[in-house]
Amino acid sequence: ASSAKFFVGGNWKCNGSVANVAKLVDELNAGTIPRGVDVVVAPPFIYIDYVMQHLDRDKYQLSAQNAWIGGNGAFTGEVSAEQLTDFGVPWVILGHSERRSLFGESNEVVAKKTSHALAAGLGVIACIGETLEQRNSGSVFKVLDAQMDALVDEVKDWTKVVLAYEPVWAIGTGVVASPEQAQEVHAYLRQYCAKKLGAAVADKLRIIYGGSVSDTNCKDLSKQEDIDGFLVGGASLKGAAFVTICNAAG
Ligand code: G3P
Repeated sequence: ASSAKFFVGGNWKCNGSVANVAKLVDELNAGTIPRGVDVVVAPPFIYIDYVMQHLDRDKYQLSAQNAWIGGNGAFTGEVSAEQLTDFGVPWVILGHSERRSLFGESNEVVAKKTSHALAAGLGVIACIGETLEQRNSGSVFKVLDAQMDALVDEVKDWTKVVLAYEPVWAIGTGVVASPEQAQEVHAYLRQYCAKKLGAAVADKLRIIYGGSVSDTNCKDLSKQEDIDGFLVGGASLKGAAFVTICNAAG
């Protein structure tokens, strides 16, 4: 069981234009977000300034989708955790499966990025999850163990970490994990954390689900005991659908 506060993240990925970011911000501002739910939206870097100025930040907090592994310096094309803190961005998504598969981020790199971002003062939405091949070959828990072991080695303070379980086969596919499939993994992860980090940390840790979450499937998922929220991709680009998901606390 978990006593964690419900958390919903909207990962816009590499989507948006000046015109439709403005429209999405208006739609989000029109939505009602229940008190007691943390909602975080993650626009591409280039739109963060606009979103920060126009989005109702009583309802929504901001996140980046990535950060450099270290501090400022000669790292062309990167944005550091220190710069995000300086700019007033409180969250960052790290270890998304797209960063792992397209940009070669290993478990160790994701773990080092996580500890660096936490040290810089950010909250981190740390993503883990297995591929379809790994699920079909029965190695889900082995894969998750390796992803978690790397994080546990590096991260000392878990109070500002949100753990996102995103099975790769469910991301952007429309094939959502069943509530039972998701609950099985979330319960496993909470047990893992209780064992490695202690019961108090495990109980407070938000373990959120990502992968084809929609305004129609969110309610069944959120009823599960160990699902403390969602990380939403496609549906976070539609204001009304995203607001519905933010109101799905089980
Ligand atoms: O980070 C959220 C994401 O990977 C899930 O994407 O489009 O399946 O909701 P989507």
